[in-house]
Amino acid sequence: MKTLLLAVALGTCSVLAYAKAPIGIVIHGGAGTISRDSMSAAQEQAYHAMLTHAVNQGYAVLERGGSSLDAVTAAVIVLEDSPLFNAGKGAVYTFDESHELDASIMDGRNRNAGAVAGVSNVKNPILLARAVMEKSVHVMLAGKGAEQFAKEQQLELVDNSYFNTEFRYDALKRAKQAIAPQPHQAAVPYDPAWKMGTVGAVAIDKKGNLAAATSTGGMTAKRYGRIGDAPVIGAGNFADNKSCAVSATGHGEFFIRYQVAADICARVKYQNKTAAVAAKEVMAELKKVGGDGGVIVVDQKGQLSWTFNTEGMYRALKAEGGEVISEIFATKP
Ligand code: GLY
Repeated sequence: MKTLLLAVALGTCSVLAYAKAPIGIVIHGGAGTISRDSMSAAQEQAYHAMLTHAVNQGYAVLERGGSSLDAVTAAVIVLEDSPLFNAGKGAVYTFDESHELDASIMDGRNRNAGAVAGVSNVKNPILLARAVMEKSVHVMLAGKGAEQFAKEQQLELVDNSYFNTEFRYDALKRAKQAIAPQPHQAAVPYDPAWKMGTVGAVAIDKKGNLAAATSTGGMTAKRYGRIGDAPVIGAGNFADNKSCAVSATGHGEFFIRYQVAADICARVKYQNKTAAVAAKEVMAELKKVGGDGGVIVVDQKGQLSWTFNTEGMYRALKAEGGEVISEIFATKP
């Protein structure tokens, strides 16, 4: 039995540290303009219930000796299947009123990775990303080619309307009204209120192996085949047993330009920082240049943490010997 040394909540940065690497998993369901005022008690309860369910699904894999890869896959599937989050069912709408999904997964043992971008008919994009990693010689497949590969891999395909939800459609209508005076969405500065989302998980298993998975519908009203950070290895997702595993959520353009996930793990590897400290530094620096969002992190010592620079981030974790911790807002009530 491993010993829990420290459990401390530091505002938007929480840390669990252990004497030696235990199993553990952290998940997120997106960061952004998530305020108490805009959420009913029933909605809050529904988010906590789904976060708890997802983290428990992932943790159960770890507890029975399964791999961190299987754990993050299991957790992300739950989040993709829930209409509450911007990934899979419940994904945001593109400008053309459809859905284009991005996802990636990375194995910390060997830095193998798989990613898919702009897929429209794959029920669980994270399974397709994993198939790309395990069943192809490639790292990233996009659009029609990725969908052809999904069919060949016999993954579950759905009509694009499967991803529809009323509240995301309302968000699209609001976004289009804001865009209307401009020729196109790409000409309009991004408004964080237009989207909430991306889901992800990071985990460490009994063998000390790290993994990370990230999945998203991207940005409301996106156009021209816009791809965010979620499928970009090193931006929205990264895992390396020599440093840490990271899954990110937020304004993808910034996460790509600042290589957020890889930067956090580089600071762990080359500056001997803990993942929690590195993540906090990188997210604070990102805020200064206008990048909103958050990350979840686990390092090779089994330290689990999250940090974000927004009003809230849907998040939960379960570490060995502990209960599920599920939180939404930056501050306590
Ligand atoms: N972070 C998800 C996106 O920007 O698409």
